[in-house]
Amino acid sequence: MSSFVRTGEYYYKSFDVMKNKTGEFLKNVEIMRDHMPSMIQKLLHSEQDRTSFNILSVGSGTGDMDLEILKIVKEELQRSQDCHQMKIFNRAVEINKYPCDLYKAAIKNLNDQQTHFDLRHQSFEEYAGEFTMEQPKFDVIHFIHSIYYVDIEAVLKHCIENELQDNGRLVFMVERADLISSVLEKQRFPDWHGTPEEKNPESFETAEKMIEIAEKYGWKHEVHPHEYFIDVTEIFDPQSTEGNLLLDFITHSANFRSTADKKLLQETLALIEDLSTLKDGKRLGVKGESLIFIYKI
Ligand SMILES: C[S@@+](CC[C@H](N)C(=O)[O-])C[C@H]1O[C@@H](n2cnc3c(N)ncnc32)[C@H](O)[C@@H]1O
Repeated sequence: MSSFVRTGEYYYKSFDVMKNKTGEFLKNVEIMRDHMPSMIQKLLHSEQDRTSFNILSVGSGTGDMDLEILKIVKEELQRSQDCHQMKIFNRAVEINKYPCDLYKAAIKNLNDQQTHFDLRHQSFEEYAGEFTMEQPKFDVIHFIHSIYYVDIEAVLKHCIENELQDNGRLVFMVERADLISSVLEKQRFPDWHGTPEEKNPESFETAEKMIEIAEKYGWKHEVHPHEYFIDVTEIFDPQSTEGNLLLDFITHSANFRSTADKKLLQETLALIEDLSTLKDGKRLGVKGESLIFIYKI
């Protein structure tokens, strides 16, 4: 896990600013609502004697996205004959205590009789190490913007071979090449001076990596890309608290403006300027993501 994610509350403050400046939360819900219902219906019809719908959330954060996914699952259970009363088991694994506590508080006030929650404050690696054949298998295992922090191939293999039902689906939301990924790339390879259109030969997009792994093992995959905007206007105001938190999120470093090497700071700001355009007084860049499903059958 990157040391920035380890900052817990600070990381979440900057994550919240990024979400405000992109509308990421609603955009993610929108694309999941476009593609998950039919996938869930297929799952419900593929197994006759099911008594529970099991979900595993990895890197669940504060649980906001988990609760949206639960809403989608409940709606599909309602739509499907004989499934109205079906119980849902929702296990969440989250390494950071700060979001875990917020998740616990949120479900305390939920009054949800249908869902049994099992929140685990631990790393996914620890969780996977405790695996036993007796534990429940999952219909859906989702990683919403969390696959970046683990060894992708090892985790995909563990999930497909051990945790997922035969007909189940792994669900990922991952970043595509966009302003944020280019800025992060700049932090990893500060001496790379290609134009944003030229691809750094050392870089490899997460989605590409995942698809290559799926093809290597003969798993099926579906990729649903979408694009919207990130408002980076405030990054160019050194006094703006939100601007500095956004800069921290997209460089993945706390207090980037005051702690980064001066040359790297200047080049990073120039790159953000290059990758954004002025529209109605706002400086906007592209934010791109893919919703990916990986499955065995
Ligand atoms: C970008 S946040 C996404 C949170 C949530 N899924 C959402 O969409 O709002 C990534 C989360 O993954 C968690 N995480 C990072 N590495 C992890 C690991 N090895 N095991 C479990 N959680 C991890 C972080 O603590 C963070 O809460």
